[in-house]
Amino acid sequence: MENSSEPLQPHCLVLSYPTQGHMNPTLQFCKRLLHKGVKVTLVTAKSMSKTLHGSSSCTSIALEAISDGFDDGGIGAAGSPEAYIERFWKVGPETLSELVKRLISSGPPPTCIVYDSFLPWALDVARNFGLVAAAFFTMSCAVNSVFYHCQKGWLEVPVKKQVLLPGVPPLEPQDMPSLVCDVGTYPAFTGMLVNQFSNLDKVDWVLCNTVYELDPEVADWFMKILPFRTIGPTVPSTYLDSRLEQDKEYGFSIFEPDHDTTMRWLSTKPKGSVVYVSFGSMAELKTDQMHELAMGLKRSNCYFLWVVRSSEAEKLPQGFANCTETSQKGLIVTWCPQLEVLAHGALGLFVTHCGWNSTLEALSLGVPMLAIPQWTDQATNAKYIMDVWKMGLRPLVDEERGVVTSEEIEHCLRKVMEEETRKKMKENAGKWRKITKDAVGEGGSSDRNIEEFVAKLGART
Ligand code: UDX
Repeated sequence: MENSSEPLQPHCLVLSYPTQGHMNPTLQFCKRLLHKGVKVTLVTAKSMSKTLHGSSSCTSIALEAISDGFDDGGIGAAGSPEAYIERFWKVGPETLSELVKRLISSGPPPTCIVYDSFLPWALDVARNFGLVAAAFFTMSCAVNSVFYHCQKGWLEVPVKKQVLLPGVPPLEPQDMPSLVCDVGTYPAFTGMLVNQFSNLDKVDWVLCNTVYELDPEVADWFMKILPFRTIGPTVPSTYLDSRLEQDKEYGFSIFEPDHDTTMRWLSTKPKGSVVYVSFGSMAELKTDQMHELAMGLKRSNCYFLWVVRSSEAEKLPQGFANCTETSQKGLIVTWCPQLEVLAHGALGLFVTHCGWNSTLEALSLGVPMLAIPQWTDQATNAKYIMDVWKMGLRPLVDEERGVVTSEEIEHCLRKVMEEETRKKMKENAGKWRKITKDAVGEGGSSDRNIEEFVAKLGART
């Protein structure tokens, strides 16, 4: 019989929001917890677990699934973001509670729920079972500050003029998360981002996937008002501190990467010569933007590796993917091993949509960026990339057409690939690379915060 006076091993259920951009950081955080001696169960929606390719490189993480109400197809099957969120918010807490009950009876019982901040109802589930609750934020400090201010009613939306927030550089409307400017476009998502902050007065921890040194003033500001800790970057350990064995990749992918073709092609290219282009797992570009990008790459005459998801492929100019010029200078794939690509010696520049994971990966691996944000948090990340971290340029958008033209892309590509600009960015790259690496290394800012979190979990059980 179990000795009831024996302390329970800390056991975290880590609940992820079911998209690639959220699975990657939560899974990596699981690996860090495991490394510190915590038992970990990663929980996601059935709809997501059915579509994953590959397997986690870490077999000690148990996997469980709850329902988002659309087990076959997830948000795509829901018809609209509103319908998805409404149903998920009903079915999610019920199925998460069932899972907690089952794990309590079968053991080892969970002692804490680390939940993606997009799913604030998980806090009530944790409270109902007397578990520690930690909200896990997957976006930057500045972006969190914007939505925190919205939730408090301190920021008037839609934002139409310059915004001043504590510790954040002045943000013009084009630097703000799109969801607080174009509020009509995705009202359900705007509500979801604002509601991340709706119940934090009851939470034990607020963990944020960033590095303290990337945005110290905003992190300090949050630490004064919330039990806020920075724990990132959640980039696989091989690329940073190498303390986690065999941690070379996230391990799960919604799309199948074209690994061999990509790496073989890269290996034939000169050092620092390749422009890597990717807009992440969700962004849908205007056809006009795809054409301008294609022409911009062609005009620059650089080598390019372009990730065009199959759902976006028909927006490429007719014949572009197969023409002789493209095959001489470029490679188009539907998905690639992005970390390996960013770390490759042939890489010169990353044309990015500035998703937070991609941004952290480029900062961690010291790759200069051309920032072409599309929606949600990306414009604010772009502002920091160019003006705060000085790790890239942001091409101007043609106001009338709402796209970055091929001329502007060519101009910026040439500028960043130029010797002088590249030298400056490479210097900054070295600085951020060291900062991100040190943060997760032994005794670094994020490492200390994870240690503190784990120590208190142990003390409480
Ligand atoms: C989404 C949002 O769009 C983003 O703004 C938010 O910050 C997080 O959630 P996504 O658009 O997919 O994510 O972008 P990003 O955050 O950059 O995540 C994409 C992930 O997919 C990265 O970890 C990247 O390494 C990976 N990736 C991307 C690949 O492995 N291969 C590819 O070909 C492209």
